[in-house]
Amino acid sequence: MNKYILVSLLLLICSTSVNSKEIQIKNHDKRYNLGLNNEEKAIFLSEMRQMLTSVQQIMMGIGMNDKAMIIKAARYSGNRMARATPQSIKDKTPVSFEQIGGPTHMMFEELIINAEEIDEGDTEDMASLAEFTGILMKNCLACHVAFKAD
Ligand code: HEC
Repeated sequence: MNKYILVSLLLLICSTSVNSKEIQIKNHDKRYNLGLNNEEKAIFLSEMRQMLTSVQQIMMGIGMNDKAMIIKAARYSGNRMARATPQSIKDKTPVSFEQIGGPTHMMFEELIINAEEIDEGDTEDMASLAEFTGILMKNCLACHVAFKAD
């Protein structure tokens, strides 16, 4: 066989196997695509990382009996974040997304109120905050299973 034909055949085989791999990934990921552009995606994902930081700081605050730390951490992901999300992202997200996202921010606000009311030294009060955080995080899971950014 001619050397060039052999090389072209090999290239063809390689490229079809890459393509079929891409298709397989697409078919296996059934999440709804929000279709964000690169700029929106960068803002959106940084909000997400902020939410993870909030949860991390809340858990730390619960473990250290530090109400102020819990409240400060929750504030970043409550109404403040909901208001700061650019309109162009809000326009792209479907109602089913907002039905999980809106209540998640509200639950951070609720967590602030709960934390303000509790007795810092009371371990049962702190345990109830940890439980509430666990319930709040069900929303993270529910949304992640259904949506992707691009
Ligand atoms: C209303 C929907 C929604 C909620 C609620 C939500 N997320 Fe996300 N999150 C997403 C989407 C969509 C992505 C992008 C996933 C993808 O494209 O694969 C994402 C990505 C992330 C990422 C990855 C960020 C990166 O830089 O890649 C982190 C971390 C994250 N979320 C944390 C959280 C935490 C913690 C919570 C709950 C406190 C939460 N999210 C709640 C929709 C949501």
